[in-house]
Amino acid sequence: MAVQWYPGHMNKARRIIKESMPDVDLVIEVMDARIPFSSENPMVAELRQHRPCIKILNKSDLADPATTKLWLKHLEKEQGVKAQALSVLDKSKTKNLPALCRKLLPGRGSAVKPIRVMIMGIPNVGKSTLINTLAGKTLAKVGDEPAVTKVVSSTQQRIILEGGIALSDTPGILWPKIENGNSSYRLAVTGAIKNTAIDFEDIAMFAAEYLVSAYPERVVERYKLKACPETDIGLLEAIGKKRGCLRAGGVIDLQRVSEILIHEIRAGDLGPLSFETPDMIELETTVDEE
Ligand code: G4P
Repeated sequence: MAVQWYPGHMNKARRIIKESMPDVDLVIEVMDARIPFSSENPMVAELRQHRPCIKILNKSDLADPATTKLWLKHLEKEQGVKAQALSVLDKSKTKNLPALCRKLLPGRGSAVKPIRVMIMGIPNVGKSTLINTLAGKTLAKVGDEPAVTKVVSSTQQRIILEGGIALSDTPGILWPKIENGNSSYRLAVTGAIKNTAIDFEDIAMFAAEYLVSAYPERVVERYKLKACPETDIGLLEAIGKKRGCLRAGGVIDLQRVSEILIHEIRAGDLGPLSFETPDMIELETTVDEE
C-alpha cells in the first residue's frame, strides 16, 4: 500500500521510532543501491544518536557495481556507520549480517545480552524481505504507513536469531525524499514510489535524459540502435519505432513507450543501472543551497 506522506505522517513516524529507540542497540537502514541518496532518510542519524548503524545498499543486483563501490566509501564517512551492498533476496549474502552486528557492538551479542536490532527505511527498499530472510520464514508484510511500527516494548515481537541477535519483527517506516525534485523522479523511475503526482511520460523523459548521457552503450544494445540518440525525446521516439508504438499517422504513442522504458528499467532489462553518484549529489545539493 502506498501512502502520500504529509508533515503529520512524518511527525508520527518520527515519534513512533523515537519512542522505540531506548530498546534498540543497533539500527539497520535499508536503502536502494540504485539511488542511495534519494532512498536514504536523513532523520535516521538524529533518531539513532550514538547507536551504530549498518546501511544496506539493497537491490545491488540492479545497481551499477562501480557506482555502488563509490557509495559504500561515501556512506562510511559518517560516524558509526558500516555500509554493505546486498541483494536481500539472496540468503547467502545476508548470512554475515549477525557477525557484522556483533563486530559493531563487541560488548553484546549473547543469549543473556542480545543485540536488539531495528530495521528502518522508506517503503519498497526491501525491509520486509530482509526480515523474512533473516528470520528464515515469511512474516506478514506490514503496510507502508507510519502508524504500523509500534513502540518496541509494548507491541512488537522480537525474532531471536543465532548469535545473540534480537530483531524487531516490524520495520520502522520512514518517508522518502519527495520534496526534492530530482529525488522524487529517481524514486519514481526505480519504482520506490509508484503512486506519484508526476506524470508517467514525465518520469520516462527524466529517465531517458539520464540514460543517453550516463549509459548510451546500454541503450544502443537494448534497443538495437545504430547510435544512441542525443536527447530524451529522441530516445523515446527511437524505442517507439523499434517496438511498433505508433499511432495513426505514424505518430509515436508516448504513453506506451514511456511504460515500456520504465518497466524495463525497473526489471533490470538494461543491465544494472545507478541513477545517482556521490559527485552528482554533491553538485545538486550545493546548487540547491545557493
Ligand atoms: P519494504 O518492506 O521495504 O516495503 O520492501 P519489500 O521487502 O516488500 O520489497 C519491495 C520489492 O522489492 C519486492 O518486490 C521485493 O521482492 C523486491 N526486492 C527486495 N529486495 C530485493 C533485491 O535485493 N533485489 C531485487 N531485484 N528486488 C528486491 P515485489 O513484491 O515484486 O514488489 P514490487 O517490485 O512490485 O514493488
